[in-house]
Amino acid sequence: MMKEKLQAIKDNAMKKMEECLNPEALNEIRVAVLGKKGELTEVLKSMKDVAPEDRPKVGAMVNEARAAIEAFLEEKQEQFRKRLREEKMKAETIDVTLPAKRQTTGHRHPNTVALEEVERIFVGMGYEVVEGPEVEKDYYNFEALNIPANHPAKDEQDTFYINGDILLRTQTSPVQVRVMEKGKLPIRVLAPGRVYRSDEVDATHSPNFHQVEGLVIDKNITFADLKGTLAEFAKELFGEETKVKFRPHHFPFTEPSAEMDVTCFKCKGKGCRFCKGSGWIEILGCGMVHPRVLKMSGIDPEEYSGFAFGVGLERITLLKYEIDDMRLLYENDVRFIKQF
Ligand code: DAH
Repeated sequence: MMKEKLQAIKDNAMKKMEECLNPEALNEIRVAVLGKKGELTEVLKSMKDVAPEDRPKVGAMVNEARAAIEAFLEEKQEQFRKRLREEKMKAETIDVTLPAKRQTTGHRHPNTVALEEVERIFVGMGYEVVEGPEVEKDYYNFEALNIPANHPAKDEQDTFYINGDILLRTQTSPVQVRVMEKGKLPIRVLAPGRVYRSDEVDATHSPNFHQVEGLVIDKNITFADLKGTLAEFAKELFGEETKVKFRPHHFPFTEPSAEMDVTCFKCKGKGCRFCKGSGWIEILGCGMVHPRVLKMSGIDPEEYSGFAFGVGLERITLLKYEIDDMRLLYENDVRFIKQF
């Protein structure tokens, strides 16, 4: 009786395992037969109904069935593991004849290359490179630079206002004020950074570009210091033979103010397409810091004087690398950037 039952359990389990197609199904069979509530376990539980003298025999039969089932189970599991390994190997085959993926290195942006050159020149003259916030107060961007409330430079058409008092800086000049306010004199700083103006994009305009600001404040600083410094800068940047020319101009925060031109480095001043025939190229704005600007930032204009200048970084980059469209600088096409 017991023998037939055990034989039936064993045969059934063997058959099911033989037909079983995946490890999950195999596990289900294992639980159904050998598990806590499995068929074979149930048989063991019913040993109490077996006559005591028959128990060793029945026990041995149960153990034999269990051993056989477990052995086959292990064999099936190994088959599945082997199949899985083979499938994995097949899926991961590497086609060594495929071309390799080339590792491409990037390149510094031409603006960065130009800025580092400008910084190198001024750091060599003892300047410190500083930074100021791009989201700036109206006070620093305009007011403290002697640009009063009704000045057209504050026009909503070319300034991005956050609210009445806060805006995206339209120039790097506010960094001048932030440095002066600290009260540490003398001052010799270079302040590069991003500036914003509500301009349409074209070959020479972008709503977001970069400037490099310079500020020197000390006792006995004169226009001669300004000229000497900026002439030296131009020579270092564009070549030893470069000459400079200062044209009177107006900026609210400097007095007197000027714009500086350099001799065209392509035609050496003879006149060409590059300089539109004039032989000169406009390069920056500059001037002696306005006494009112000094006073507003807590510096006594009777004791101290200074000069300032502002350069458009893109302008330098475009000139230096003879690029004729500013938009190329913002597309970040590696094929373009790599050329500089
Ligand atoms: N901030 C001026 C601009 O955006 C440029 C400039 C001119 C800066 C003269 C200066 C300066 O420091 O002295 O047009």
